[in-house]
Amino acid sequence: MNVLLTGGCGYIGSHVAVVLMAAGHHVAIVDNLSNSHQGVVDRISEIAGRSPAFHRGDVADVKLVRDVIREHSVDSVIHLAGFKSVGESVQWPLKYYQNNVCGALGLLEAMEAESVAHLVFSSSATIYGDPRYLPVDESHPQHVINAYGRSKLHIEDMLRDVCVSRPSLGAVCLRYFNPVGAHSSGLIGDRPRGIPNNLMPYVVQVASGELERLKVFGDDYPTPDGTGVRDYIHVMDLAEGHVAALDYLSSNSGWHAFNLGTGRGYSVLEMIRAFEAQSGRSIPFEITGRRQGDVACSYADIRSAAQGLNWRATRSLEDMCASAWGFQSRLAGG
Ligand code: NAD
Ligand code: UFG
Repeated sequence: MNVLLTGGCGYIGSHVAVVLMAAGHHVAIVDNLSNSHQGVVDRISEIAGRSPAFHRGDVADVKLVRDVIREHSVDSVIHLAGFKSVGESVQWPLKYYQNNVCGALGLLEAMEAESVAHLVFSSSATIYGDPRYLPVDESHPQHVINAYGRSKLHIEDMLRDVCVSRPSLGAVCLRYFNPVGAHSSGLIGDRPRGIPNNLMPYVVQVASGELERLKVFGDDYPTPDGTGVRDYIHVMDLAEGHVAALDYLSSNSGWHAFNLGTGRGYSVLEMIRAFEAQSGRSIPFEITGRRQGDVACSYADIRSAAQGLNWRATRSLEDMCASAWGFQSRLAGG
């Protein structure tokens, strides 16, 4: 297939590009590099043994996206481009609606004008809010509490409407739980700008000595050790879920949503111990107060993805930690 991959220079997008190319698909990336670097394209090429097409630009630019679709005879789109910081979205909600919602709008306009009928969209488990039951399945009530989550929900709803108006369209919303880890080459991985917000990149930078100590946000949750529990999924498993979603769209139209997780939760303290074991470094930490907006525990019901997409995560927690450390070590080595 000829796939337009938006946000393909980012953390998840670069892994999706590698997996798509390994599966024999032609990949054209559109990325405005607002949170990434063009050098990632060279690293994707090094891993894949051939180069994806790269177009620097914004997904809201309908003309640019239409040109790319025509140039590469695109038949499917995987849409990952967007902003993703929950805290920033609370401070600058309009920035999130502008980039995420208007970006998706531009992309959908271009797809409609060029009659592209398959779309995979990166949504988030954040749309479920504080879980009312566990594991969280796809029909769990949606309860967003920040502009980032609401931007994802708006896009999911836009896709529902477009699928009703264009019955030939197929759209799969993939609701990611907590992607971590890196490609085994150590060439691509998660390297956020500034101080990391998420647990794993923060732990990695404590291990490397760039940051002094981890703050564990609360040890008084109703979980076995009191720290927050999440469903961490290896980014390569997540990337493979996108290829499975594309396959699904070859025989299914309409709107669909699937959780991508492992179905099992780990606490912050379990993550620290697992990372220490894989890296051989100690992770100094202190317990601080809870972070506003955090939930105690979240993990996915994965039956729907297993049945519908014929996909399930296979990589271990050890692999998640070892590959994240491998990426960091390779970065440090230049
Ligand atoms: P990332 O910031 O590393 O990658 C996003 C990429 O999109 C970047 O390369 C950025 O330059 C690009 N981009 C942003 N806005 C753009 C625009 N308007 N036009 C073109 N390019 C644009 O983030 P990521 O972690 O790889 O996340 C990818 C997607 O997955 C995002 O939509 C995010 O919301 C979603 N997601 C991520 C997580 C997570 O924990 N990482 C969890 C759930 C959902
Ligand atoms: N945590 C710490 N210290 C840190 C960072 C995180 O103790 O410095 C804890 C959090 O309190 C939480 C756990 O580690 O218990 C995971 O936190 P993350 O920030 O890594 O992940 P979240 O589950 O809060 O959110 C992430 C993404 C969201 C996405 C969501 C999907 O940031 O964008 O996963 O489940 F929507």
